[in-house]
Amino acid sequence: MAEHLIAAKDLRLRLDGRDIFHIPEFSLQRGEVLALVGPNGSGKSSLLLTLALLQEPTEGTVRFDGRPAGRDNALALRRRMALVFQEALLLDATVRRNLMIALRLRGVTGREAEQRANRWLDRFGIAHLASRKARRLSGGEAQRTSLARAFALEPEVLFLDEPFASLDYPTRRSLLGELGKLLKDMNMTTLFVTHDYTEIPYLADRVMVLYEGRIIKTGSVRQVFGDQIVERKVWAPWEDAE
Ligand SMILES: Nc1ncnc2c1ncn2[C@@H]1O[C@H](COP(=O)(O)OP(=O)(O)O)[C@@H](O)[C@H]1O
Ligand SMILES: [Mg+2]
Repeated sequence: MAEHLIAAKDLRLRLDGRDIFHIPEFSLQRGEVLALVGPNGSGKSSLLLTLALLQEPTEGTVRFDGRPAGRDNALALRRRMALVFQEALLLDATVRRNLMIALRLRGVTGREAEQRANRWLDRFGIAHLASRKARRLSGGEAQRTSLARAFALEPEVLFLDEPFASLDYPTRRSLLGELGKLLKDMNMTTLFVTHDYTEIPYLADRVMVLYEGRIIKTGSVRQVFGDQIVERKVWAPWEDAE
């Protein structure tokens, strides 16, 4: 078992002749919740998609569990991951079907699939919505479904790209609290992307600040945000770089 679940060196992405990011060194340890924070357009989603093997880097290789990812094994490695985006991306089916279909695509069927679906719908407080059509859900309910679906897959790593960005404040607050506790309880290896740095204290062990495609700061939540984190009144860490 490799020390880092995900690691990369000199990872670069260029698109349309523009440098999107250059990351000299990246690692995500098992059981760690890493927050990737930075303003809009800093390259967070591009980096997340690259680490999740959905975007091929221009230079460098992503290593998953010690093995270099390439075209030959990317699909198999992606089956060990789960992603949640800002939009819930649900199928036009019931909440339960959304989980069952995702499970079947990963080869989980029958009683095992049913039990996992029930367990995670329950855990995210949406068991009563199991028969509801996904398109009739509120934003918060849809995102709960999307999270329940991701957890039901029992991934080795969870990628979250601004999962709360389109939710209203009270919904975001309660989901953040619940998710933070769950990630800790499960020891889930997680890359959490956000431009809203006030979300970080709820979730992260470690923070990486991305600005114009470069990591300008990395460390514990306290190292990056200092004492201000206690009051949850934090400044944007990229303000220094401007
Ligand atoms: N497919 C693409 N082709 C060209 N440029 C892109 C593409 N995807 C993203 N970009 C550019 O890369 C930069 C970083 O985007 P993104 O990774 O979405 O940032 P963030 O998630 O931090 O907002 C932006 O300037 C964006 O316009
Ligand atoms: Mg983004």
